[in-house]
Amino acid sequence: MASILSILASPYGAASRGATLAAQAVANLQAADPSLALVERDLSTLSRSVIPSSYADAVLARQPSDHPAFGLSETLIREVEDAAFITIATPMHNYTVPACLKLWIDLVLRHSRSFAPVNGVKTGLLGDRPVLVVVTSGGAVTAQDAGQPDHLTGYFTDVLSTIGISDVRFVYLEALVNPVQAGKAIAEGAKAILQDPVFGSRQDSVPVMAWAANK
Ligand SMILES: Cc1cc2nc3c(=O)[nH]c(=O)nc-3n(C[C@H](O)[C@H](O)[C@H](O)COP(=O)(O)O)c2cc1C
Repeated sequence: MASILSILASPYGAASRGATLAAQAVANLQAADPSLALVERDLSTLSRSVIPSSYADAVLARQPSDHPAFGLSETLIREVEDAAFITIATPMHNYTVPACLKLWIDLVLRHSRSFAPVNGVKTGLLGDRPVLVVVTSGGAVTAQDAGQPDHLTGYFTDVLSTIGISDVRFVYLEALVNPVQAGKAIAEGAKAILQDPVFGSRQDSVPVMAWAANK
């Protein structure tokens, strides 16, 4: 059965503002195709211990996929492989992805499994599929005068490209530290998702717009 993979990387999990908008995209996809199953992967509880030395040893020794150290890595890679669509709700933490999403990256980008060098260039093995990345941030990110660097967008684009995914759109909820700006950002983010040809609404998405307007 085709699925939607919903990845949550905020410490607030499903209660985060990014997750709320990503959930709307999931609802839109399921309204268009009710047969789509939902697989939720909340990364907020991942700890550094998911990458022990046995995992590093197995990666560097190019062990086969059924090696015991690859258990969680295989699970996460298969979730991506099985997903027809992927939504990722991530905060910006110190200019880039939060630590839990970096752990996911270190488990999913695996030599000879999700990518392999072709003529010396790392090439994705998982196949392309539409991905929506909702980025939340306390400050401004996309403006010329944002006042802080953005090491998330380019980096995460390269990460997805490494495994073969280039059909990616980013939606930014910026300056959430300011309550007035936050309401505006959430309403604009909701609108951007509604208008997306893949993740947008085919039906009625009034609830999230009403919710956003009250923020
Ligand atoms: C450890 C940490 C680091 C953060 N670093 C940044 C940052 O570099 N830039 C920024 O604009 N906001 C930063 N923030 C603010 C978060 O991005 C913001 O609180 C979060 O995105 C809120 O969205 P959410 O409701 O989806 O979790 C940081 C927050 C935390 C907890």
